[in-house]
Amino acid sequence: MTVKHIFVIGAGTMGNGIAQVAATSGYQVTCMDVQPAALEKARATVAKSTTKLLEKGMINMEQKASVDAIQFVPTMDTMKDADLVIEAATENPEVKLRLFRDMDVNAREGVILASNTSSISITKIAAATKRPDRVIGMHFMNPVPLMKLVEVIRGSGTSDETAKTVVDICKVMSKEPVEANDSPGFISNRILCPMINEAIFTLQEGVGAPEAIDQVMKLGMNHPMGPLELADLIGLDVVLFILEVLQRGLGEDKYRPAYLLRKMVDAGYLGRKTGKGFYQY
Ligand code: CAA
Repeated sequence: MTVKHIFVIGAGTMGNGIAQVAATSGYQVTCMDVQPAALEKARATVAKSTTKLLEKGMINMEQKASVDAIQFVPTMDTMKDADLVIEAATENPEVKLRLFRDMDVNAREGVILASNTSSISITKIAAATKRPDRVIGMHFMNPVPLMKLVEVIRGSGTSDETAKTVVDICKVMSKEPVEANDSPGFISNRILCPMINEAIFTLQEGVGAPEAIDQVMKLGMNHPMGPLELADLIGLDVVLFILEVLQRGLGEDKYRPAYLLRKMVDAGYLGRKTGKGFYQY
């Protein structure tokens, strides 16, 4: 199937990043969000990011113009014109299942419906549609314009053709697709979130200050960001949600979220997006 027009659902951090990368890769892009404020913020975010990438010579004027041409819309009305839909809405199973039911109605027959979910079962999402063979996980990493990986996850009914099409699109987007099976947290968050959780336990038990914990992992293990800074970037509510998916899905206590993480989420300290997490922003 030839893909020319990509429709992205959700204009938040991941959605606007995916829309931007799709546009700089030559696709016609529509980005939808029900919140007008989110659309305005997304427009400003992609403009700032592409200006920076243009200054650094990482994109050219033509690519910047493609990003300026992204359509930001509040409804699914134009989804019927799209050749691929990528959902990047909030990480909430009920919201995603409802969206996939609506996408199944609004997108043309045969169009692939992808989800950027970081942990929810693709098989379950696919079961909300009448096209499980055309549903797949396309898990981008934050910040999308800079990170090479896209984790590609097949549900139990995903066809080989769907997987091949999506892998090819990732390559057109200059990303490295890596295939993972549909299991709680897939590969990325099965490994990343327990590491972040352990860093939070380390803080909770007074083994080190946040700066010390992050410095050890940056200077000692060459991680570009420490685990607590990274948790602030991802969002502490998202980290908590993923750990709960791992604990429930894999049935093992080793994934239990640190008490300090729960307490911070309860307090509304969610990281960068609220101006306070393990650090102040
Ligand atoms: N667009 C354009 N430029 C951007 C950008 C964006 N979206 N985000 C950052 N930059 C720019 C910065 O502005 C900065 O530019 P200047 O040098 O001109 O100031 C440049 O990139 C480098 O940034 P920094 O100097 O702040 O920091 P850095 O060199 O450490 O690079 C980073 C930033 C690429 C984010 C790096 O720290 C990194 O790789 N961190 C780890 C990120 C990571 O692990 N992401 C995955 C999270 S998990 C996930 O997403 C999945 C999930 O399901 C939870």
